[in-house]
Amino acid sequence: MSALEDLKRQALLCTGCRLVEGRTQVVFGEGHPDARLMFVGEGPGADEDRLGRPFVGKAGQLLDRILEAAGIPRESVYITNVVKCRPPNNRAPLPDEAKLCTSLWLSREVELVRPQIIIPLGSVATQYFLGQKVSITKVRGQWFEWHGVKVFPMFHPAYLLRNPSRAPGSPKALTWRDIREVKAALDQLGPKPDRVIKTAAQDPLF
Ligand code: URA
Repeated sequence: MSALEDLKRQALLCTGCRLVEGRTQVVFGEGHPDARLMFVGEGPGADEDRLGRPFVGKAGQLLDRILEAAGIPRESVYITNVVKCRPPNNRAPLPDEAKLCTSLWLSREVELVRPQIIIPLGSVATQYFLGQKVSITKVRGQWFEWHGVKVFPMFHPAYLLRNPSRAPGSPKALTWRDIREVKAALDQLGPKPDRVIKTAAQDPLF
């Protein structure tokens, strides 16, 4: 069993916070275990909770179309979330839930997959990687760095579903520009270096 599979095995047993009460199952990240590109959403919705996979509902289908349009195969990337259990009524994760879940699982996922580019989708994931409260509208489409990894925030696909206009300057038009910039950055990366990413991961408690 790989270290990532072992991490998933442990995460599936997690009862570390109150989200355990409303979840059907833990939704761990999925995708290429050695991906160069990692997408991080907020948390599972109803479809993800039911199926046990991230980004498989309406927002996930839009993410699939965005990736396909940019020529980035979904199987080549790794997709995960800040919290691995569905918050009740799709509310945003509370700070203590996000803090525990990221320190146990997301930081280790990053350390094991070693992506060269991380795309936080929406403000919850962006705030985690930027370490401060920020408005996604202000920071999307810009490059940041987190423990030596490039970070490029983008709008959450659920936000795009609520704002379907394709007019110049619309969230959809900006997202199209952003994903092409990501593809161009990916195409310029050399061979994946063997570097170690050290985050503030905690040892699992289980
Ligand atoms: N929204 C998210 O943030 N994550 C998912 O997995 C699905 C929808």
